[in-house]
Amino acid sequence: MSKITVVGSFSMDLTVTMSQFPKEGQTIIGKKMLKNPGGKGANQCIAAARLGGDVEMIGMVGNDENGRIIKDLFVSEGVNIDHVLTTDKEPTTIALIEIDDTAQNKIVVVPAANFVYSVEDLHAVKDVIANTEMVVAQLEMRLDVMEELAELCRQFNVPMILNPAPAVPLSDGLLSKVTYLTPNETELSVLTGHPVSTLDEIKEAAQMLLDRGVKHVIATLGDKGALMADASGMEVVSGYSVKAIDTVAAGDSFNGALAKALVDGATLKEAIGLANAVGAITVTRHGAIPSLPTKEEVETFIQNQKIQ
Ligand code: RIB
Repeated sequence: MSKITVVGSFSMDLTVTMSQFPKEGQTIIGKKMLKNPGGKGANQCIAAARLGGDVEMIGMVGNDENGRIIKDLFVSEGVNIDHVLTTDKEPTTIALIEIDDTAQNKIVVVPAANFVYSVEDLHAVKDVIANTEMVVAQLEMRLDVMEELAELCRQFNVPMILNPAPAVPLSDGLLSKVTYLTPNETELSVLTGHPVSTLDEIKEAAQMLLDRGVKHVIATLGDKGALMADASGMEVVSGYSVKAIDTVAAGDSFNGALAKALVDGATLKEAIGLANAVGAITVTRHGAIPSLPTKEEVETFIQNQKIQ
């Protein structure tokens, strides 16, 4: 059994870069088109694997060329895909991504195979969940699957990282079973209905989630780092200032790194520090999975930051 189990989404990302996003009803000429495997779950899984993690992925692809490309990639990255299912009902999920010159992105995900994955499919891999050291999940699959996953984690006493992306309001039942919740500022606001324009407001929103039963809230704050909040208090763990060219998968790489560091026995603050570095490197490169750094690249980055 693998130490980290990611239950989540796969996608084939179709990315177009452009100077500015088109306005409603406008046609523009873009710059480049890229086609790469992605999906929040897949990105988180490969992020942990590239850092040397022992990782298994659970999810579903379609019975098509994109599904085969994705599975081949996972095998070449050393990820266990014994429990990745293939469906004939829907094609592999596609994400349409636009990126402008300021590195902002707009993403639309077509649910497809990710949403065919069912609670019954999850029950078939109960043993995998019971025997792993850390579960990582996001919200690009059906919510009933994520709720059941949280329940299994609770039953088997396995810590769960939930990256609430894309954000939707979540029940107290689900939140109270989450060990580490990792929203960005926008997601924090969607989850709580609270404004997040200042650090004080972000702290208030994090407290609302702690009050609803989440054990640790880790709110990512871009180059400012991440707020670590739990019963023992709140602290911002500093981030890194880099020149961002593509922020796709920054949050995913953060989550993969967090999982890897925690199963290695790092303190939460140390794990967030590593995850901040991994996220910073990711935004300096194009693509989702192509932008994820190796362990050696992260070590060099941290070393160089210390020298500067
Ligand atoms: O978080 C980035 C990911 O979101 C992309 O890879 C895309 O697939 C969307 O799911």
